[in-house]
Amino acid sequence: MRLIQITDCHLGPQHSETLLGLNTDQSLEDVLELIQKAEPCFDHILCTGDVASAGHVDCYQRFAESIRRYFPQPLSWLPGNHDSADIMASLQDALGIEGRLIHLGEWLLVLLDSSVPGHVYGQLAASELDFLAHVLAANPDKHIIVSLHHQPVPVGSVWIDQYIVRNADAFFQLVDSYPQVKMVVWGHVHQEFQAQHNNLTLLATPSTCVQFKPLCDDFTVDTQMPGYRWFELNDDGSFATGVARVTNKQYVIDYKSAGY
Ligand SMILES: [Fe+2]
Repeated sequence: MRLIQITDCHLGPQHSETLLGLNTDQSLEDVLELIQKAEPCFDHILCTGDVASAGHVDCYQRFAESIRRYFPQPLSWLPGNHDSADIMASLQDALGIEGRLIHLGEWLLVLLDSSVPGHVYGQLAASELDFLAHVLAANPDKHIIVSLHHQPVPVGSVWIDQYIVRNADAFFQLVDSYPQVKMVVWGHVHQEFQAQHNNLTLLATPSTCVQFKPLCDDFTVDTQMPGYRWFELNDDGSFATGVARVTNKQYVIDYKSAGY
């Protein structure tokens, strides 16, 4: 099975709104075009939050329309700190967005909501941890990917690591008792990141728009290009993953900005 992850599209309520000068509709289209060229055969596309720059119905409708112009494959999403989880839930059925458990052969993709209304940081509510505990207990024979918006471990940049999942200890206490969990994947940090936690692979994925420079104490925009992550999932639980980025494009971005 092949899974595609996109993240942090930051679409505005109007078409062609910008983030730090970058037209986020255009950069999303560029990433979708790249996926179309590079991924002739995949099974599912996941967006790990910050679909919108600020939760608004039009952002989500345009997002789904953009994806559908390129791909008929099942699409799922989860909310980030810039999203409205309520609006996303209210539009889910009408836009044909899949639920929170995605079966991919011998693999199971689980979507969690780490957003906290009115805050940038992440937190997994007791109901989210209960949901995950139930799914893990009920699926001992599946290889499992857990997805969420916020990073559950520091990625090494002080300014964004203050917006980590605040109760990550409780999260790891849970997943550590289920060895069938193979990966935890997220967005939010707008950069590629990979680490190991025991046998668990931890992965962050570049945004489809502006990139943040790794290992910076203060907010710093990176010159890296927008991109996505692919996963090749084998029946025996082994997997491969990688990031691909747009090439041969020049974007107008405010690299001197002190925040977003
Ligand atoms: Fe975010």
